[in-house]
Amino acid sequence: MPTGARAPRKAMLAALSAAAAMLVAACQAPVAVPGSALTPAGEIGRYVEYPNSLPSAGRGEALWRQVCPACDADGFSQTYLGKDRRAISPLDVYLAVSDGVPDRGLPALKDRLAPPERWDVVAFLWSRNASRELMAQAEQAYLGSCSMCHGPLGMGDGSAAHGLEPPPASFALGGRYMWFTDTDLFQFISQGKPGTAMPPWRHILTAEERWLLVDFIRTFAYSAGEE
Ligand code: HEC
Repeated sequence: MPTGARAPRKAMLAALSAAAAMLVAACQAPVAVPGSALTPAGEIGRYVEYPNSLPSAGRGEALWRQVCPACDADGFSQTYLGKDRRAISPLDVYLAVSDGVPDRGLPALKDRLAPPERWDVVAFLWSRNASRELMAQAEQAYLGSCSMCHGPLGMGDGSAAHGLEPPPASFALGGRYMWFTDTDLFQFISQGKPGTAMPPWRHILTAEERWLLVDFIRTFAYSAGEE
């Protein structure tokens, strides 16, 4: 267990949580999420509100169509951020829809949608990466190689999870993943996590399979329907 990395992180979070509490609206719990080892969390990430319940792609779609009927949902990352979709995090999308990207035609939604609604929109935009057909394929790989630890619903409670320290990650905790890019997750899957039970998969699964698994584990962090 990587104690060296955890202790300062804990101290940092304790110091920050007091500051964050002042900034976060009363109806939302502040996120206390350790930053990625690969993508240092920006200052801004510490003050972002993440909802306690799963964001809904269905609700997000309805909101998006209402507030931005002419906007490009499928090419979001290229059109509005000028980046490959694998190089952005859910937080990047959240900040873009919150503040808008005026010179690229994306309006700011922060005065029109509450934070949980904006996360619904992020879930909708993210869900465009996960076609039903490909996800059915990815689910097979997940059930074969991952669910014994991470659990059938990605909650970190698989049959082989018992006693592991740290326990397998729960992918349903979307807040933990908001500042990971797909490329970060791909690297975890490829290289494993030293000091934990997470094995490297680069010699076992093809790159294509690992990318599909990235898209698949993201689906645990939002609900597809309206609820
Ligand atoms: C033997 C149990 C085990 C298996 C099998 C396993 N994992 Fe993990 N996984 C873990 C543990 C333990 C961690 C570390 C959690 C932590 O650091 O808090 C982890 C971490 C991760 C992470 C990093 C995210 C994070 O928050 O730490 C990803 C992504 C991941 N696993 C994906 C997968 C995928 C995809 C598969 C299947 C190809 C898989 N894992 C198979 C145990 C496992």
